[in-house]
Amino acid sequence: MSSVDIQLHAALARAVAGVPHHELRGRVAALSHRYRTEQVADTAPGMRDALDALAYAVVRMPATFRALQTALSTVEHQPTTHVDIGGGTGAAAWAVAALWPSVTTEVVERQPAAVRLGRQLAAGNFAQDWRWTTADLRDWTSPTTVDLMTIGYVLNELTEETRSDLIRSAARSAKTIVVVEPGTPGGHRRTLGARELLIAQGFTIAAPCPHQGPCPVDWCHFAARLPRTELHRALKDGTRNYEDEKFAYVVATRCPVRPAAARVLTRPIRRKGQVVLDLCTASGTAERVVVPKSSPSYRSARGAGWGDEAPMIR
Ligand SMILES: C[S@@+](CC[C@H](N)C(=O)[O-])C[C@H]1O[C@@H](n2cnc3c(N)ncnc32)[C@H](O)[C@@H]1O
Repeated sequence: MSSVDIQLHAALARAVAGVPHHELRGRVAALSHRYRTEQVADTAPGMRDALDALAYAVVRMPATFRALQTALSTVEHQPTTHVDIGGGTGAAAWAVAALWPSVTTEVVERQPAAVRLGRQLAAGNFAQDWRWTTADLRDWTSPTTVDLMTIGYVLNELTEETRSDLIRSAARSAKTIVVVEPGTPGGHRRTLGARELLIAQGFTIAAPCPHQGPCPVDWCHFAARLPRTELHRALKDGTRNYEDEKFAYVVATRCPVRPAAARVLTRPIRRKGQVVLDLCTASGTAERVVVPKSSPSYRSARGAGWGDEAPMIR
């Protein structure tokens, strides 16, 4: 675990101290069901009060933090200013601070209970204090241009119209935009919708796509592995000591980008004497490449992981 993971788990453990586990377990189950079945909408918020916010933070925040951190690690230009939209309890702010500790961050979130908990979790953990704005994103626009805007696990909660308005407004006020959604077919579609809008606004796609053309696959998603704490297991009936958070994402920017040669789209298959890679290529096609042991690219192909930029295959 990184030091930020440890800080986050410690902050969560402090926040649940004294809260009866059976009450939290009930909220965790209900909240997990609402999010898993994508029953969260403008009119049916996921988090409704302080106990919901705590349940969300304990069982979802470490995973959304890790997915956001993975997506953000593809951003090439170090930001100095960051706005997180629909920030919940602060997962994206934690991810940005873990990568670039001196960034100035503002979190915009409509649920006061999430904002209160977010502040409490962050307190004392970072050199920079974040600004928290309790607002509905439909009534909020950034007064200045920021280097980086994150929109993590939010599009799902918005109507199609609000989603498009949000992306267009983000395009007017941010140089780089990172959208992360659950790694479901629906999450992939919503991410693609944002990608198309951002290309139309003059942005270049920096990741995961190595091209600017139409998406060649039905379902593009990735996985971020994270440790599961005892608290998480106790509240979610899990036994494994890790989980794989599946997510879809897009990084779009007005800054110059160094395009990847290709992206690994699924978990590589490592057989005796060969590696099989499913790739999205710079020419905008999806291709399966078999790299035999005799290939000069074999070593680098063996080291490639799901979601990585693919090595040059010769
Ligand atoms: C699934 S949570 C994601 C939280 C955080 N971004 C993360 O990745 O953990 C979605 C968040 O978006 C917020 N949200 C949804 N609609 C919103 C709106 N219209 N204005 C502001 N926040 C909104 C919700 O309150 C919730 O905190």
